[in-house]
Amino acid sequence: MIQLSKPVITEEMKRAVLEVLESGRFVKGPKVEEFERDFADYCGVKYATAVSSGTAAIYLALRALGIGEGDEVILPSHTFIATAEPIPMVGAKPVFVDVGEDYNIDVRDVERKISERTKAVICVHLYGQMCDMDALAELKEKYDFYLIEDAAQAHGAEFNGKKAGSFGDLACFSFFPSKNITVAGEGGMVVTNDDELDARLKALRDHGRDYRRKEKYSSTMLGFNFRMPEILAAVGIEQLKHLDEWNEKRRKIARIYDEMLREEVKKPEEFDCRKHVYHLYVIRTKNRDGLAEFLKANGIETGIHYPIPVHKQAVFSGYGSRLPKTERICSEILSIPMHPLLSEEEAMYVCEKINEFVVR
Ligand SMILES: Cc1ncc(COP(=O)(O)O)c(C=O)c1O
Repeated sequence: MIQLSKPVITEEMKRAVLEVLESGRFVKGPKVEEFERDFADYCGVKYATAVSSGTAAIYLALRALGIGEGDEVILPSHTFIATAEPIPMVGAKPVFVDVGEDYNIDVRDVERKISERTKAVICVHLYGQMCDMDALAELKEKYDFYLIEDAAQAHGAEFNGKKAGSFGDLACFSFFPSKNITVAGEGGMVVTNDDELDARLKALRDHGRDYRRKEKYSSTMLGFNFRMPEILAAVGIEQLKHLDEWNEKRRKIARIYDEMLREEVKKPEEFDCRKHVYHLYVIRTKNRDGLAEFLKANGIETGIHYPIPVHKQAVFSGYGSRLPKTERICSEILSIPMHPLLSEEEAMYVCEKINEFVVR
């Protein structure tokens, strides 16, 4: 079976895990601090806070910004449900908007839906391509809201040469095993340039303790245990060293798909000033389900990201709106194999089979 995604595990990662096991220090140790420093440097920001998942990262971002009852948060509906779940959890109202041709938040629709209660906009860099950050910066200037980047799928993606994570007030990443880098388990990161936000994030993830005061049993706010274990951080440090190389491999596979797939297949577009890191390579076709079945029968795994728009999920039914593009594309999109271990021959085989199906 040609897998849709596959994490790379190296000998250094295995050694790093053993080293932590032998050290006996499993939480709140040097590996988490090192991973945070390395990740912040990589993104070109001052601070990073390692947490237990990407979902926890988004939840803490909202809490750190003080978003709650009476506030509205604008976000795209075409995303993984984790972008939206934390919004009602903090007592705020999600306001869903449509997407553009890049599958990312439609900035004109954001402007239409801004109200006096809008406190934040979450832009999701879906599939590994960043949103139009110039247009979002202009809106932020005009209407004064917090901008949160959901960069769960965009480690290393760029806009005008600047990395994902360096644009928003806060940015959230996930290290779920299918992502461009993983911690070989569940994990997430929140990055920011703001000292106060950073202090709040670090307190919130650790029972409200102010890490700067180093007092173990003194809490300055109510918090959680959303910490990342040392073993996972040790894997993350090693994974991060390979991120650029693996993203280049993904881009190479994307070029093969771009060139070989027939024009009956709608391929992803790489927009001006953006470096796409192809967390997913998503095509669109009319008979999507038929194609997925055909590929499966030919040993090729595919996925749908995502089959139900978030505003159509039962748990979000109270926040209804009509989002024509989002509702249309979910029946056409298909994610085809994309990971750094995919060989050029395998990518070519995937193209052959897709082309064979679409001309039948
Ligand atoms: C766009 C998006 N946001 C948030 C998340 C949540 O991350 P996690 O699965 O690490 O909680 C994911 C990943 O699953 C994602 O793809």
